[in-house]
Amino acid sequence: MRRLFHLSDVHFGPHHQPEVARAAAALVAARQPDLVLLSGDLTQRARKAQFRAARAWVDGLGRPVLVVPGNHDVPLYRVWERLFAPFGVYRRHFARDLEPTFHDDELAVIGVNTAHNWTFTNGRIRRRRLARLEAAFAAEPPGRCRIVVAHHVLAPVAGLENPETMRGARRAAAAFARAGVELVVAGHLHEAFVVRSEEAFPGLDGRFVIVHCGTTTSARGRGAERLAHSATWIEIDAEAIALSVLRHDPETARFVAREAHRFPRHRLPEPAAGGIIQTDTGKTRGGEG
Ligand SMILES: [Fe+2]
Ligand SMILES: [Fe+2]
Repeated sequence: MRRLFHLSDVHFGPHHQPEVARAAAALVAARQPDLVLLSGDLTQRARKAQFRAARAWVDGLGRPVLVVPGNHDVPLYRVWERLFAPFGVYRRHFARDLEPTFHDDELAVIGVNTAHNWTFTNGRIRRRRLARLEAAFAAEPPGRCRIVVAHHVLAPVAGLENPETMRGARRAAAAFARAGVELVVAGHLHEAFVVRSEEAFPGLDGRFVIVHCGTTTSARGRGAERLAHSATWIEIDAEAIALSVLRHDPETARFVAREAHRFPRHRLPEPAAGGIIQTDTGKTRGGEG
């Protein structure tokens, strides 16, 4: 069993809500997740002081934290930086690695940077990045739960205030399915939702769950989460992925469960001698079964 806490869009700087950040840290201290996932937009305007404040808060959580950047972590108005060193301040004042990974006996987690320096507000993911991701997951033992952490929107979902997906979303979804990914966590929308890949991308050869976290600590929530703050508690065992969407309750200054989901795992069979995986459909492949 692995327990993960998913946060997003903490946006240190204007509109950051320190009391909500304290509530999130208190939850981490109380529940001691195996891993914290932070899916981008650490700052509001990619300033040094904002990154340093984000770093201090992340370090204070006292648990392993896997972080990817978001579009707000690239300078918007400092044009020279945006063009020639879009992640320079992030690297100097938050973390050198834009695409960290986490592995243990039960998890294989890969961070993907979907933020870029130019006009891709909605993000993008390139073919060569997907090829590297597929190769990395193919090298993992089959039973590990494969998880992707990214900032931007993968799934086209009706009813959201900004339903636009990142460039290459369909191609990315197909690659995730081939790679046996079981869970994708993201942010950016400032509005939480959970959707299955079968609903968002009918016809994929494989299935996974997509979880979008709202903004955990910014006052810029959108849609149904205007002025609200959310996070996701995730429990993964051999049988299922259980998700609890949490919402900050200002009355009690705590995160409380709003909705729950449970998705059966689709475990891979153990590799046969020679490393070939035979699925029960008779197909041979290195991805999920
Ligand atoms: Fe954001
Ligand atoms: Fe964003």
